[in-house]
Amino acid sequence: MARRKKIYEGKAKTLFEGPEPGTLVQYFKDDATAFNAEKRDVIDGKGVLNNRLSEFFMTGLANIGVPTHFIKRLNMREQLIKSVEIVPLEVIVRNFAAGSFSKRMGVEEGTPMPRPIVEFSYKDDALGDPMVPEEYIIAFGWASQQDLDDIISLALRVNDYLSGVLYGVGIKLVDFKIEIGRIYEGDFPRLIVADEISPDSCRLWDIETGRKLDKDVFRQDLGDLADAYTEVAKRLGVMPSNVTHTPKPTLIN
Ligand code: C5P
Repeated sequence: MARRKKIYEGKAKTLFEGPEPGTLVQYFKDDATAFNAEKRDVIDGKGVLNNRLSEFFMTGLANIGVPTHFIKRLNMREQLIKSVEIVPLEVIVRNFAAGSFSKRMGVEEGTPMPRPIVEFSYKDDALGDPMVPEEYIIAFGWASQQDLDDIISLALRVNDYLSGVLYGVGIKLVDFKIEIGRIYEGDFPRLIVADEISPDSCRLWDIETGRKLDKDVFRQDLGDLADAYTEVAKRLGVMPSNVTHTPKPTLIN
């Protein structure tokens, strides 16, 4: 059998050619990286959890009319997605201070923002994804002013949806990152949510205890990352609560 064609390999996902033109297969790996891949590990079961969680969030967004690249989940680790032209920006929405914002601005983690803040980083690993102003984005042609208005409105709709769903299961959405893709319908470009939405790309804090349930567990060595993601999945009803994340069979002698 012919091997399928690999289109792109990222830090946490691989993209393969899809079964039809305009589609791709997105494979979720178990690899975890942080600090621009200076820290790395393999976390058993992370890919399975993120595949399920991203499916859950993308489906929920589609149900409220927010367009995404997600078509359907294929198996434990793969989903069929629309092939898009990625806008080279990381679109970050912050509801509470944390991470690079707290560091840059000297604001204590957990301080509420006056309103959700949308900011942009230029996607470039070699440069460490620097934060960029809208002026750069428009001047260098990464997106037009109209695109940016649409991207901000998409990001805020995603924020409203995610905040509400997560609040309902006792989780505070501190911040998150999305990526945006451009697809062409006839001659007309359209912007849609792409990549993934998972605890790899969000900060999620338990409302009662403050426990971190996202990639900061890995970044800051706070415990078992897959346990934290399993907790999010269980609360959202994405995985039956009796399923553990252990993917390996146990050998019984
Ligand atoms: O590090 P910083 O505070 O800027 O991150 C803001 C949010 O964006 C966090 O939820 C983080 O997980 C996410 N992020 C990401 N990928 C990056 C940078 C940030 O998913 N390359």
